[in-house]
Amino acid sequence: MRLIVTGGASGLGKAVALEAAARGAKVAIVDIDAKGAEAVAGQCKGIAHHADLINDDAAKIVADCTAKLGGLDGLVNNAGYGAGEAFLEMKPSTWDRTFDLNVRALAFLTSAAGKIMAAQKKGRIVNITSPASRMALPNYTAYAASKAAVDSVTRAAAVALAPHGVRVNSIAPGMMDTPMQRDTEIAFAKLEGRSDIEKFLAERTARIPVGHRVEPEEVAEAVLWLLFDAPDYITAERMNLSGGLDKD
Ligand SMILES: NC(=O)c1ccc[n+]([C@@H]2O[C@H](COP(=O)([O-])OP(=O)(O)OC[C@H]3O[C@@H](n4cnc5c(N)ncnc54)[C@H](O)[C@@H]3O)[C@@H](O)[C@H]2O)c1
Repeated sequence: MRLIVTGGASGLGKAVALEAAARGAKVAIVDIDAKGAEAVAGQCKGIAHHADLINDDAAKIVADCTAKLGGLDGLVNNAGYGAGEAFLEMKPSTWDRTFDLNVRALAFLTSAAGKIMAAQKKGRIVNITSPASRMALPNYTAYAASKAAVDSVTRAAAVALAPHGVRVNSIAPGMMDTPMQRDTEIAFAKLEGRSDIEKFLAERTARIPVGHRVEPEEVAEAVLWLLFDAPDYITAERMNLSGGLDKD
């Protein structure tokens, strides 16, 4: 498996890159964090590809990584951004950054990778969505809406690529203690007037039906299942790994 993982320098993307490499994949780690990408690439004998997915051309990123990998069998659209802000105080810049990364970059990376995979009649794409896409989150509206858009793009891409042998699915992870999640929850605490961050976090954890948060490595196992093991007939699927937070 020759695999591109976006946002592979940290959190879930890093776990996917390391676990995929352990299963024999050659991985290109695409990230705005050049040092982080180099470190993960070093750990998994992969390729670090420094790019800003908001400002750099998606087709060129995919072409460059494919050339370095010697081909392309899989893409994990994992890089994401979210900012906690009150609905009545929302800033256009937050919407732009959130949608440019979470949706526009994901759509064009999928299209570029999809073209290469369609030509070879084989390939698997996994998008990282969120339980937020189906929740009412007045302090996280842009993020939640962007993940609803990810679900829409996943369905469209799955249907566009189905006749060409390419499968497109998504994973909705529950709460993982990554840098992005920590920043978000600190913002939520401020918006809710809470200064006792640890108590606030514990209360949020207690609301998860299984009673604990999930490690990125456990979510990565599901991503790898879709990449390596899932039956070919599964496409346009959204797999929910939220410990019961998202009940559909
Ligand atoms: N952590 C959670 O609880 C949680 C829950 C549901 C969904 N998710 C989703 O999981 C995915 C991974 O998030 P994470 O929690 O591992 O976060 P993270 O902060 O650990 O990692 C995000 C990575 O994306 C990279 N990135 C950010 N902007 C970029 C850009 N413009 N160009 C290239 N790379 C960029 C960052 O440098 C970082 O390496 C995201 O799509 C997120 O929305 C996370």
